[in-house]
Amino acid sequence: MSNETLQAVRGMNDILPDEAALWLWFEEVVRDWLHSYGYRNIRMPLVEPTSLFKRAIGEVTDIVEKEMYSFEDALNGDLLTLRPEGTASCVRAALQHNLLYNATQRLYYYGPMFRHERPQKGRYRQFHQFGVEALGFAGPDIDAEQILMCARLWRKLGLKDISLQINTLGDTAARQRHRSRLIVYFEQHRELLDADALRRLHSNPLRILDSKNPAMQSLIAAAPALSDELETEALRHFEELQTILRRHDLPFEINPRLVRGLDYYNRTVFEWVTQRLGAQGTVCAGGRYDGLVEQIGGKPATATGFAMGVERLLALLQEDGMALPKSQVNVYVVHQGELAGRLASQVAELLRDDQLRVLLHCGGGSFKSQMKKADASGATVAVVIGDDEAQAHEVSVKPMQGGVQQRVSVQNLAATVKTFIK
Ligand code: HAM
Repeated sequence: MSNETLQAVRGMNDILPDEAALWLWFEEVVRDWLHSYGYRNIRMPLVEPTSLFKRAIGEVTDIVEKEMYSFEDALNGDLLTLRPEGTASCVRAALQHNLLYNATQRLYYYGPMFRHERPQKGRYRQFHQFGVEALGFAGPDIDAEQILMCARLWRKLGLKDISLQINTLGDTAARQRHRSRLIVYFEQHRELLDADALRRLHSNPLRILDSKNPAMQSLIAAAPALSDELETEALRHFEELQTILRRHDLPFEINPRLVRGLDYYNRTVFEWVTQRLGAQGTVCAGGRYDGLVEQIGGKPATATGFAMGVERLLALLQEDGMALPKSQVNVYVVHQGELAGRLASQVAELLRDDQLRVLLHCGGGSFKSQMKKADASGATVAVVIGDDEAQAHEVSVKPMQGGVQQRVSVQNLAATVKTFIK
């Protein structure tokens, strides 16, 4: 057996305690913000049937074609997948548990997602999303609310340099007309297509428009535009969305090339983008997906949502110099002797009853070495207990920033400690 040191899977990160403090703070801010808009938490499994993602995200998408962690259940042969995103699972759960129809839902979820992408800065194989889904709302008012709520979060976090791009994809019929026209157009220019484009020509010609191949850019620029196919209703929806955003003085750019990498979208799509993260500049993205419920077996239902990449937002915050104080322990309990040891653990519990954060020294050692640990812990006070103090059911309180050590009864300890804590 090899005894080389084991490493985490490439693209999957450990989050160490100093950094985790920032995550905890961020998660709290985001939850408060979600609750202030009436969103309620939902938690889905990390593993779903592979067919769910194939049907929801689309067979001919990067995610389904090459990025899913899929495996066969060794016991029954079921094909399963680690979720690459949350929308499909959330809608599956809402449908399965009858949360849809005759009701609207504002839901959010948080957790890891898995995509087998090439890791780089801002792109990981396990990453975290806060996902937000509003089910049963048809109008542009909810699209606008979701966009405006994002803007509020950026303000709350003090994040600047994130700009908004929006587009409309119209409804199914328009996209089908557009699709047919694209196939005809690209067929006429077959000799200019690369291998990827040829493969997608009949299965997903829309994705050819996303190609970064410089040789194909002028061909793409002259391709039939979806905007020429859009229905009045979808256009009105898009106009109204823009009106609301303008009313709130929220700047945006209409990007007709914005099509998103998942197939379930219709009408509104949007992305929040920053220039500060290199190639992985999209920190939050989403849109309307009115066809998804039906696609996974339900009766039609309207829906819209978005998800934000936590690693990317935290990278921005860290770049802005956001650092949090390490989690503060209030008290370090130092003790020597058997009687003292027994009292020390009782005292630690009593102080915790009083909402104090307490580190009880474990592992023995001299008073001197224990005091060094107390110093390093960042505690505000040390509680020192020797057997003579323990005999008297008393302890000594030593302020770590200097000051007089005092002896107090166990009964008065919590009150004394609190006088040192701001
Ligand atoms: P998405 O655009 O695939 O949409 O992902 C949303 C966000 O997740 C991205 O903008 C990015 O910030 C983050 N993200 C995606 N992949 C990675 C990765 N490999 N590493 C780090 N961050 C990543 C969705 O997932 C849709 N479910 C959003 C949605 C919800 N649409 C409607 N409702």
